Amino acid sequence: MNINAPRGTQDILPGVSEKWQYVEQQLADLCRRYHYKEIRTPIFEHTELFQRGVGDSTDIVQKEMYTFEDRGGRSITLRPEGTASVVRAFVQNKVYGLPNQPTKYFYTGPMFRYERPQQGRMRQFVQFGIEALGSDDPAIDAEVLSLALNSYKELGLKSLKLVLNSLGDQESREAHRDALIRHFDPHREELCADCQVRLDQNPLRVLDCKKDRGHPAMENAPSILEYLNDYSRDYFEKVKQYLDVMDIEYVVDPNLVRGLDYYTHTAFEIMSEAEGFGAITTLSGGGRYTGLVKEVGGPETSGIGFAMSIERLLMALEAEGVELPIDEGLECFVVALGEDADKAAVKLTNQLRAAGVQVDKDYLGKKMKGQFKSADRLNSKYVLVLGEQELENGVINVKDMATGEQKEISLETIIDYMKEQVSGGE
Ligand code: HAM
Repeated sequence: MNINAPRGTQDILPGVSEKWQYVEQQLADLCRRYHYKEIRTPIFEHTELFQRGVGDSTDIVQKEMYTFEDRGGRSITLRPEGTASVVRAFVQNKVYGLPNQPTKYFYTGPMFRYERPQQGRMRQFVQFGIEALGSDDPAIDAEVLSLALNSYKELGLKSLKLVLNSLGDQESREAHRDALIRHFDPHREELCADCQVRLDQNPLRVLDCKKDRGHPAMENAPSILEYLNDYSRDYFEKVKQYLDVMDIEYVVDPNLVRGLDYYTHTAFEIMSEAEGFGAITTLSGGGRYTGLVKEVGGPETSGIGFAMSIERLLMALEAEGVELPIDEGLECFVVALGEDADKAAVKLTNQLRAAGVQVDKDYLGKKMKGQFKSADRLNSKYVLVLGEQELENGVINVKDMATGEQKEISLETIIDYMKEQVSGGE
């Protein structure tokens, strides 16, 4: 019987894993420059964290979580996103009490959502995200937006759109909530079953419904921007001013509603406008959250962040035809003939590796021709040939595969010689 990987998961094999490593390294370097430091949190958490953090009325909590009871009878959930866990760690480790605030984190790791799989929508996917906690300065919202956009731009993507909205503070949201209820209540019976519940629980979610998207009442639904109080309006204006200062282009979409409940003020998504990107165009999303830290037991502290999946990032790179500078070749392959030479090759390979040279050899007992073929197929830059004769003379034959040039180098100096060759004489 064949056992395949579960639906919505994937294996990332060499040839593709190098792309993952490359983009993850680039993102980590970007974070270093913005002074965000890595945090690693557990892959599973108590279910309550997401119920309280992400929100009971969201699709994520209601329909998409991988929740199970562990052997101790606790309800455990595989994390569907990173923010709730990061905030939990911030509170549990009392990081809010440390002198250097705001606290700026980044994270990369697998997340799990029981969604209907399609291109760009997986059940296990890898999110890269950042969170800045402990500052109410609109400039840090702009910083997060700048980092989010640059994470794509620096990798070479061009067809991007930043969509921005403000969800306002508690007071603004309540005013908007009442207006939404007044607006949709006469149409209650026409809305889908989920939305009838949402209308009572969290009417903002109605605006995000895929089923009721075409309902005429959606078109003239009250916009949050009309209900922002002075503080919220001023906050949003300042975020936009900082974006202008950095020459960051954006479009304001008052209908942008995020799929998680914790957002207040700034909310945003970055979309791909590349042709052939696929049906799901959202590359990443994020925003500010004011109540989340308190919700998980911390002091009144707000944060802002965003997350993207690496899967969608790689899809966008493909759609825009961006080639990543990945060298899949091998630096050096040692060809050995005869038992003694093979022993010497094992020793040499080991020494070269210790000296920092990437090197491989044959392990299938191949003849000389076969070993050369392997070196060729592996795209090796240098082939080192060690036969009985060479051993006797204390030398090794080095072939530069790009130029075809061959040299005899003494076994005493070969390590330094190869080090020099592969580092380009630096
Ligand atoms: P989210 O919008 O649920 O936000 O997810 C952020 C990103 O994760 C999406 O834009 C997409 O790139 C990726 N993503 C989500 N679900 C899937 C999936 N099933 N398959 C592939 N990729 C997916 C959050 O998760 C928030 N925690 C973001 C945030 C951070 N807000 C503040 N800080």
